[in-house]
Amino acid sequence: MRVTTNVGVGGLSPRALDETARCPSSALSSLADWQEDARPAAFPFRPIVRHYQAVGRGQVDAELVKALRVLAEEGRPRRGRGGRAADGLILSSWLPCTFDQEDGDYDSYGAILLLHRVAETTPGGPDAGLDLQQVALLADLLAFEAAAAAGRGRRSRQEVRVRACLRALARAGELAPGAAGVTARFPAAPAADRAGELARLALDAVPPAVRLAAEITLLPMTPLHDEVMFIRSIQVFELVYRQVARRLERAVAALAGGDAAAATAEVRDATARVAATGSLYRVLTTMPKESFAVIRSSTDGRSAIQSRAYREVERLSAPLPTEQLPMELLRLDERPRPGRSLQEEYLATGGGPPLDGLAAAMAGLDKAWQAMKRTHWGIALKIIGRVPGTGGSSGADYLREAAERPLFPALSPGGKHA
Ligand code: HEM
Repeated sequence: MRVTTNVGVGGLSPRALDETARCPSSALSSLADWQEDARPAAFPFRPIVRHYQAVGRGQVDAELVKALRVLAEEGRPRRGRGGRAADGLILSSWLPCTFDQEDGDYDSYGAILLLHRVAETTPGGPDAGLDLQQVALLADLLAFEAAAAAGRGRRSRQEVRVRACLRALARAGELAPGAAGVTARFPAAPAADRAGELARLALDAVPPAVRLAAEITLLPMTPLHDEVMFIRSIQVFELVYRQVARRLERAVAALAGGDAAAATAEVRDATARVAATGSLYRVLTTMPKESFAVIRSSTDGRSAIQSRAYREVERLSAPLPTEQLPMELLRLDERPRPGRSLQEEYLATGGGPPLDGLAAAMAGLDKAWQAMKRTHWGIALKIIGRVPGTGGSSGADYLREAAERPLFPALSPGGKHA
């Protein structure tokens, strides 16, 4: 497998060339200094994260990994004196991602729990927090890609990546409408040579904890440039899944309370978010096959097939067709199974004309979700062909079958209420 030693798309991350960061001494000494008073708010994330990003999680200094593990096992972050509870929460959610080299999973790879926790405790509430976090992640990615593009031609792979990231951030208002306070400040048609400025504008406008979460949740396994984009893609999609699940949960509750109009509005909101994921896929398609082959070999056992939020969307829509799913590969949420799914609640009402609007909205969500799955399948086929997935499934064939499964089988063509 050949990966060039160039920097940028298809090569190394510029951070891999930072000799100071490659050496663990700054990370180790900052950590030792911090241990003196151990306030979570003063934790030296930056030098530690820089070292992880420069060498990749797989090659991080063993002494540093051990020190971080001890810290987590002693439970010090939660007990830290003074400061805000949020600082302890951020640190205690982040530490497990730093020593998961042997037994990590999808959640620890993408620091998914940390992102959810920060977003859901943001002033303004979880809906806004999750959207602001998406904007921060996209802005951080754009800043990273724009910095690597300096001096490249317009047709270079790096420039194509920058334009895809720029478009994704510029259209974040559709993906994350709850972050309108930030996205409304974006220029109507931002130019590619001002990409770095747009990213900075967005990062400066999000709450500090959201910005910090974006910064510290980038812990790649390798020093490859493309893995940064891959992690950011996973993280943003994950927050989209969470937002869709939240809306489905509220739609079920609204319908159970007899408010079909509110349920319909929630489903429509979810649909618009899913439909807006096209710009994220345009970023993902800039992944070179050779880079992904290396990333893939370093991320075995860390597949998004384990995504809890994704499975929650399916379970809140209709009971899971367990006979069609590889249950041993899936991570179902630890929480007890949610009550009725939206399909069950809909069927319990008996359907009929008063619920036609809701039925149409559910069909719209199903269509958008299936289109999203088909796009994912097409991209996976193009990038990895027919090899098995990192989650243990058959790979593209599994995805093709999954893409054909409707969210609301009873309402889809051939279903008993179609
Ligand atoms: C280079 C890009 C990607 C490739 C080649 C790829 C490939 C795959 C494969 C082969 C699977 C099957 C499960 C397995 O055995 O691992 C899978 C599942 C999945 N992937 Fe990706 N993936 C990519 C990017 C992403 C991204 C960015 C996300 C966003 C979170 C994502 C979300 C998912 C989800 C949710 C599943 C489970 C689908 C289901 O069970 O119905 N994938 N992916």
